Amino acid sequence: MIRSPLMTVMTDAVMKASRSLKRDFGEVENLQVSRKGPGDFVSAADRKAEKILREALEKARPGYGFVMEEQGIVEGTDTSHRWHIDPLDGTTNFLHGLPQFAISVALERDGQIVAGVIYDPAKDELFIAEKGKGAYLNNRRIRVAARTEVPDAVVACGLPHIGKGDHGLFLRECASVMAHVGGMRRWGAAALDLAYVACGRFDAYWERGLNSWDMAAGILMVREAGGFVSDADGAPNPLASGSIACGNETMHRELLKLLKKAKG
Ligand code: IPD
Ligand code: CA
Repeated sequence: MIRSPLMTVMTDAVMKASRSLKRDFGEVENLQVSRKGPGDFVSAADRKAEKILREALEKARPGYGFVMEEQGIVEGTDTSHRWHIDPLDGTTNFLHGLPQFAISVALERDGQIVAGVIYDPAKDELFIAEKGKGAYLNNRRIRVAARTEVPDAVVACGLPHIGKGDHGLFLRECASVMAHVGGMRRWGAAALDLAYVACGRFDAYWERGLNSWDMAAGILMVREAGGFVSDADGAPNPLASGSIACGNETMHRELLKLLKKAKG
């Protein structure tokens, strides 16, 4: 496949940041056993990766704005464009030496997400999508799973933890979904959960309490792979509410029904 100039800019920035992240991931295991622990080290790794991404994107597309997990919102002189950046999605996994984390970068143009890149450095898996041009994993076109029987479905979710989210609602949703599906997973990196729906590894996924940088690239990835995406209550724009539900047409519809039942 031939990459557009925009996609080249995005993947070059992501690959550059990933080299730094990968080096730091190698250090985390050593730090696990030190008294200080890896906490501060991981925050520094996160900030370093974000700085690399910002510098590379700013150089290639001066004036675009930013919505970043670490540095927050930076208004650009070009008000039609802004990047949504998560330099390290799956921070808890990274901190614990679990190789399930990613860099996620999306471009918003006039209110619409038009391009997304999600890169998993531990597995060297690069997911890319551009609006109207399909979604790819390491240059191979990807599609959402074709399965339509709910008992066969593997459904991913994100669950709240201490100090986050509505634990009661999640437990009701989980009970409602687990009674009907073939398996459930909580892997701890929202961008990869979405990429995995896009390439058919997961049949469906839902989560509440997300930010634009966690899911902007992944939403486009799933849609460009032929999937259906809404928020967890069925409203069209997950970025507005911070919740998400997705899958192929059938799995998305069935998941929404189960989530609705849990809300009562
Ligand atoms: C988190 C991950 C996780 C999700 C959390 C996110 P972070 O992002 O995507 O899977 O459940 O809600 O905050 O903090 O690791 O970048
Ligand atoms: Ca994240």
